[in-house]
Amino acid sequence: MAELAVTDLTVEFDSGGYVTRPLDHFGFEADDGEFVAVVGPSGCGKTTMLSCLAGLLTPTSGSIRFRDTEVTTLAGEALGAYRRATVGVVFQAFNLISSLSARGNVMAPLRLAGVPRRRALARTEELLTLVGLEERMGHLPGRMSGGQQQRVAIARALVHEPPLVLADEPTAHLDHIQVEGVLRLLRELAAPGRLVIVVTHDDRITHIADRVIELVPKFAPSDREPEQLVLAAGQLVFRQGDRGDLVYVVEEGEIEIYLERSDGGTERLTVIGPGGYFGELGPTLNLPRSASARASTAARLTGYPVRAFRRRFPSTVGHARSGTGADLSAGTP
Ligand SMILES: Nc1ncnc2c1ncn2[C@@H]1O[C@H](COP(=O)(O)OP(=O)(O)OP(=O)(O)O)[C@@H](O)[C@H]1O
Ligand SMILES: [Mg+2]
Repeated sequence: MAELAVTDLTVEFDSGGYVTRPLDHFGFEADDGEFVAVVGPSGCGKTTMLSCLAGLLTPTSGSIRFRDTEVTTLAGEALGAYRRATVGVVFQAFNLISSLSARGNVMAPLRLAGVPRRRALARTEELLTLVGLEERMGHLPGRMSGGQQQRVAIARALVHEPPLVLADEPTAHLDHIQVEGVLRLLRELAAPGRLVIVVTHDDRITHIADRVIELVPKFAPSDREPEQLVLAAGQLVFRQGDRGDLVYVVEEGEIEIYLERSDGGTERLTVIGPGGYFGELGPTLNLPRSASARASTAARLTGYPVRAFRRRFPSTVGHARSGTGADLSAGTP
């Protein structure tokens, strides 16, 4: 049995009254002692996923099992204990307290947990030595480099000896010399009894990872044949937040493009008739669909992979009309 199993994880947000779904049935597994890199472009849901693993965000649906614990159903004291003792989180911004020294920052969570001062101090100095900051224990964050601050943040994440360490873009603000030190440290932390998960768009991390998980699988530019779709009135073509690799041309009938609001309502953007097309931006830019599409009458469509669409309708390049208020382009080829 895997140490960590994430299954069908789905998160929906209310974003200005409309539903966004950065995670849609996402899943992966990891074993004890591994160094796992989760990669994906900006905005694809990396921080969201990490927040779920950390017990800071409850997903809309899906499961996160770490050892024998189902994280998504934890509440109250059990959730508090999980956040405190099971996970250690290194945030995207270091989140250090600027008025406290390196020592003070690492010691704070120990003192908050009721560890006596002398024991907390001994543990703090041990951790700061582990991350290579024995010479800097009394320094304020503002007097340390980005890499040093990041290492303080890592030491702080380790105070309760968590078996699961999560790091969000730990190299984002560092120069290449600092990156090396932080990477080596994170890599060394992954050892029996401790699983380390790093989300990043930094390629250097993927080279040293035991396992690389792509949060957003890229569409392989496919040269498959266009598809014919025959739809009954009311039938969906795709939903807002879905990923898909086809651009659709309406051959017969009408397709309604509409937004799904977070209050459950819908808002019609446009109706596309024979000869028109829709759904171009998502597959072109590898983004989720920004609106939903359904047949408002019986309809027949041709679904083209992006390349085939461009070959068939070269004049549409650069003329995508997006006056609908959504990213979803629609027009006439
Ligand atoms: N609390 C929230 N409310 C509404 N939308 C949110 C919220 N948090 C994140 N989002 C949206 O969810 C999507 C994923 O965001 P997330 O921060 O997880 O991306 P990311 O992969 O960490 O990006 P980056 O690499 O830039 O840090 C984005 O479109 C973002 O706007
Ligand atoms: Mg992020």
